[in-house]
Amino acid sequence: MTDDMAGKVALVTGAAGGIGRATALAFARSGAAVIVADVNESGGRETVDQVTSAGGKAAFQSCDVSNAEDVKALVARAVSEFGRLDFAHNNAGINNPAVDEWDEAAYERSLSINLKGVMLCMREEATEMLKNGGGAIVNTASINGLVGNASQPAYTAGKHGVVGLTRSAALKWAQAGIRVNAVCPGVIDTPMSATAASDPQIRAIIEQMTPMGRMGRPEEIAAAVVWLCSDQASFITGHPLVIDGGATVY
Ligand code: NAI
Repeated sequence: MTDDMAGKVALVTGAAGGIGRATALAFARSGAAVIVADVNESGGRETVDQVTSAGGKAAFQSCDVSNAEDVKALVARAVSEFGRLDFAHNNAGINNPAVDEWDEAAYERSLSINLKGVMLCMREEATEMLKNGGGAIVNTASINGLVGNASQPAYTAGKHGVVGLTRSAALKWAQAGIRVNAVCPGVIDTPMSATAASDPQIRAIIEQMTPMGRMGRPEEIAAAVVWLCSDQASFITGHPLVIDGGATVY
């Protein structure tokens, strides 16, 4: 644990596992109190247990990021539990390669969570952050926010949208003290990629398409998120940071 972020409060969506859990733990290690948000209550509570067992402060809030009322309640919980909101990692997302995203309902569901959810979260978070002179927000996009993907049009459109929203929000709040950035992970070893990666052939393809020859670890995204929120990144806003082992360098 360090005390770089002592007295600060962070909120992480999609924190029941994977990248979000790693970020919640990383914020806590930096001294911030953490609101863990997810639709998965058991996983979220497990993240809280991991933070508190390591000596950090955390609380779970059930939240569907595509529901405006849930998101309002989430930010209100940060204030009622820990008194303020300084940092947010809008990370909740869905990606099911087995679903045909040219289907209208599947398309709408994907965009509702992956894109509208980020907008709803930023809107409420910024309102609260402005009361204390600002803060920092990081949205999880993807390398699919920068390049096309034939088999996942809705996911790809949503993640491109997250990059656009990030840039727009960065401009909107640049002079108000809120920095807004995005992370664009390549393939990361989390529950989301587990089904595909458990097939040795698909895993080999993933490793082959990544110049560094391996999948990323959730902690490698979490470290970047916490750094982007820290004073070390005080002049960085509107940036989509690629963290992909070189996959998009070709
Ligand atoms: P994950 O599946 O472990 O985490 C996603 C979390 O979001 C889950 O805990 C899930 O319950 C939660 N969630 C889903 N819908 C929600 C909703 N409506 N409201 C609140 N929470 C909801 O997967 P992972 O990999 O940790 O994903 C985190 C983010 O990273 C996602 O936005 C994903 O698109 C993105 N990403 C993941 C990559 C990977 O290879 N794992 C690559 C690039 C981006």
